[in-house]
Amino acid sequence: MNSDHKADFLVVANRLPVDRKTDADGNPVWRTSPGGLVTALEPVMKRKGGAWVGWHGAPDETIEGFEHEGYQIVPVPLGEQEVEEFYEGFSNATLWPLYHDCVAPPEFHREWWDTYKAVNQRFAQAAADVAEQGATVWVQDYQLHLVPSMLRELRPDLRIGFFLHIPFPPKELFQQVPWRKELVEGLLGADLVGFQLPGGASNFIRLARRLSGVEALGDTITMPDGRRVRARAYPISIDADGFKALAEDPAVQEEAAQLRENLGNPKKIFLGIDRLDYTKGLRQRIRAFGELFRDDELDPAESVFLQVATPSRERVEEYKKLRDDIDLLVGRINSQEGDIGNPVIAYRHDSFPRTTMAAMYSIADVMVVTPLRDGMNLVAKEYIACHPDDEGALVLSEFAGAAKELKQAYIVNPHDLNGMKKTLVKAATDSPKQRARRMKAMRKQVFSHQIDDWANDFLHDLGV
Ligand code: G6P
Repeated sequence: MNSDHKADFLVVANRLPVDRKTDADGNPVWRTSPGGLVTALEPVMKRKGGAWVGWHGAPDETIEGFEHEGYQIVPVPLGEQEVEEFYEGFSNATLWPLYHDCVAPPEFHREWWDTYKAVNQRFAQAAADVAEQGATVWVQDYQLHLVPSMLRELRPDLRIGFFLHIPFPPKELFQQVPWRKELVEGLLGADLVGFQLPGGASNFIRLARRLSGVEALGDTITMPDGRRVRARAYPISIDADGFKALAEDPAVQEEAAQLRENLGNPKKIFLGIDRLDYTKGLRQRIRAFGELFRDDELDPAESVFLQVATPSRERVEEYKKLRDDIDLLVGRINSQEGDIGNPVIAYRHDSFPRTTMAAMYSIADVMVVTPLRDGMNLVAKEYIACHPDDEGALVLSEFAGAAKELKQAYIVNPHDLNGMKKTLVKAATDSPKQRARRMKAMRKQVFSHQIDDWANDFLHDLGV
């Protein structure tokens, strides 16, 4: 930041990159949130005198801005009703399901939309207030769809980028939303709009042509005033070196050995790690395992399925329903197929530190990533990074963005239970040579496209 507290480079995201913790003396302290985006952007933030604009995660609380790790934290407050209507409502019960192939029905409420617009305006204003003349602003994800155009209106001098971390749907689904034109025009305020896959970028360009009547040639849209907007794919990745180092850390290896022991030293460990979200295909995946154990295709004495579901959006109806369904399903399967003290599915509804995740990845013989739709899915890439040896196998849904890059995974259609069951068994029983061949190729991909390549490619194209 300069002396007048203006920033040359800003990230605007629904969430701030810090979590509030309590130190040994009981005082609140802010710690960097785990996650690749923050790791990738921190060096740029420091170099450019950056600011991160976002919500700290609690309703009805106003927090003063502060400096953190050499850049500025700019909190945007949200009231309780805004959390309900903007965050839980329009972001996570309208856009989220709509953009994930409507695997749950999206809800359309005019009040949610009004609040969504008002909150997007507040984020845009907060960014406009701290941006230096001609600064670069990078807006993140579907919660802030309208910020690029609102910000351009307030500050035409800024260079504005937007990245959508989730899929961008085809016209047939997108057209459902009553405010489709406004949503498309929200993104047209940016100079560069990034998507996970080329398909998302072309869906967007097609819709922009149709709904806003703009002209487009290749990846470039020309606005009526002559301004250019580019729409391109930038597949996001992870800090693969960081995960590899974690997996090789002796403390993590010790934790891994302990975990294996706790699971009863099984011959085969299948692992799923997901946010508890209906897009992740958990119902189908758990049913598939239930049948494999029931039909003796997996032996409960030899195999275990460890599923971690991280709590998420717990007040949203579809998420509550999902939690109950999974509890019921897991309980039923374990009561029928498991033994006393020896469940076939070890299920935890909890979040774990990255060290424990790395320990889990490293003991898993088969990683099971079977979403019904997913923008990318970083768990698949983290698993590969935690296997610098040739051990392991990845079962991956064709509907995850990652399947476009990790072509050597055992690819499944999560709606096809029989196909998924067959592939799960194949992934576990293929020869070490076959499994190693696949892992090697995927490792090459993951280590040659890391999170800082993603950020650098996007920022380069934005002209930073
Ligand atoms: C997805 C979204 C992110 C979001 C994250 C966690 O990855 O793309 O924008 O931050 O889920 O969800 P939450 O609702 O807890 O922020």
